[in-house]
Amino acid sequence: MKFFADTANIEEIKQIKRWGLLDGVTTNPTIISRENRPFKEVVMEILNIVDGPVNLEVISTDAEGMVKEAIKLASLAPNVVIKIPMTTEGIMAVKELSSRGIKTNVTLTFSPTQALIAAKAGANYVSPFIGRWDDISNEGMQVVEDILTIFNNYGYTTEIIVASVRHPIHILQAARLGAHIVTAPFKVLEQLFHHPLTDIGLKRFLEDWKKVPNPEL
Ligand code: G3P
Repeated sequence: MKFFADTANIEEIKQIKRWGLLDGVTTNPTIISRENRPFKEVVMEILNIVDGPVNLEVISTDAEGMVKEAIKLASLAPNVVIKIPMTTEGIMAVKELSSRGIKTNVTLTFSPTQALIAAKAGANYVSPFIGRWDDISNEGMQVVEDILTIFNNYGYTTEIIVASVRHPIHILQAARLGAHIVTAPFKVLEQLFHHPLTDIGLKRFLEDWKKVPNPEL
C-alpha cells in the first residue's frame, strides 16, 4: 500500500520522508492556505523533497480553464498530478488532459458511479473522501469497496486514493480492502507507529535490563 501525505507543510513532509512513509503528497486549496505562504514557493519546495506524485488542484470551474491551469502546473515537474473536481466540466477536462498525457486525480468523489465516470474519462487516480461521508453518518469505506469492485469488473487501472482520512482505523479498513493508496494528515500517519502496549513493553524491557549483572558485550 502506498502512503501519501495529505499536507503542504514542509517540516511534516520531511518528517514523513524520514519515517520512510512518503510515497507522494496531496494538496488542495484548503491545505495550501494553511501554510500562509506564496503558492509557487511552497510547491517548489515540496517538489524538491518528494520523489513520487505531487497532487496540485486547479481552481477553475470550466473545462477550458482547468486544462490551461493543469498545463501550467504540470510544467513545474514531471511528477505533478492534477487534481480535478468531480463535475461535468471536470470530467471533460480529465479526458482532454489524459489525451495530452497529463496525469489527473479526480477529487471530491463521494459515490462509486462518480469514480466509474472518472475512470472512463481516463483519470489516473480517483479520491473518495471517506471522512466527510462518515461525518454525516454514512459508511464512507463502503464507497471504496464498491469502487474496487467496479474497477476490477472492467479492468480499469485508475488507482484509488482513500482521502479525508481521520484516524488509523480508516487506514486499516483501506488496507483490508486492498485500496491502492491512502492519503493521510501527519497526525494520523504518526499515530500508526504507536500502541500503549509497545510503550509499556519497552519500559519493562529497559527496567529489566538494569538487573543484568554485566550488560556489556
Ligand atoms: O485530500 C483532501 C482530503 O483528504 C480532505 O480531507 O479532512 O478536509 O475531509 P478533509
